[in-house]
Amino acid sequence: MKKIFCYTVLLLAAIACRQNQPTNDTMNVFTPIDSKEIPDNAVRMMADSWMLITAGTPDRFNTMTASWGAIGHLWQRPVAFCFIRPQRYTFEFTEAHDGFTLCFFDESYRAALALCGRVSGRDVDKVKEAGLTPRILESGRVAFEEARLIIECRKIYSDFFSPEQFIDPAADIYPAGDFHKMYIGEILNVWIND
Ligand SMILES: Cc1cc2nc3c(=O)[nH]c(=O)nc-3n(C[C@H](O)[C@H](O)[C@H](O)COP(=O)(O)O)c2cc1C
Repeated sequence: MKKIFCYTVLLLAAIACRQNQPTNDTMNVFTPIDSKEIPDNAVRMMADSWMLITAGTPDRFNTMTASWGAIGHLWQRPVAFCFIRPQRYTFEFTEAHDGFTLCFFDESYRAALALCGRVSGRDVDKVKEAGLTPRILESGRVAFEEARLIIECRKIYSDFFSPEQFIDPAADIYPAGDFHKMYIGEILNVWIND
């Protein structure tokens, strides 16, 4: 009787431990939330805390830091905007794939984000150098275990800025003509890491 009790306790402890472990096919650590419940200030989360834009497949993806972006509501759905210059390696991935993830981190990851915004995935294994751990979402899109907030998007619109559309010439910061491409993504999922 005592033995059965001990085995049961051990089994329950093992199950409890397993439930707290992140795996690639379940969202154990991350809690799904509605996009309307994103707790951040929409401006500060871009301008101050930065984000990683990631696109590709589990086998081949790239990520880069961005501080230009927005979240909002368009075409009857929640959306996120991001802006990527064509010379970024990440651009090849946002072009080739149907979606991307936006990952937001605690202040303790500032150096990791600075690195991902300084070097190119063409030259460096940024994920390894930054000490980040890819997390494969159910869709196959890639996010990061260390993120405190993940937004998963499906591309619905994209276009380059064009010089003739600038109303305020001061906003045309493109002497080389390397205009950002704007991506509007439908927000499919949002998770917070609690
Ligand atoms: C704080 C910060 C914000 C940035 N924001 C953007 C951005 O919004 N769009 C962009 O194209 N590049 C932005 N960059 C530059 C890219 O992150 C940087 O060029 C990166 O090395 C590109 O990496 P990749 O070649 O691997 O894609 C930013 C860099 C930093 C440090």
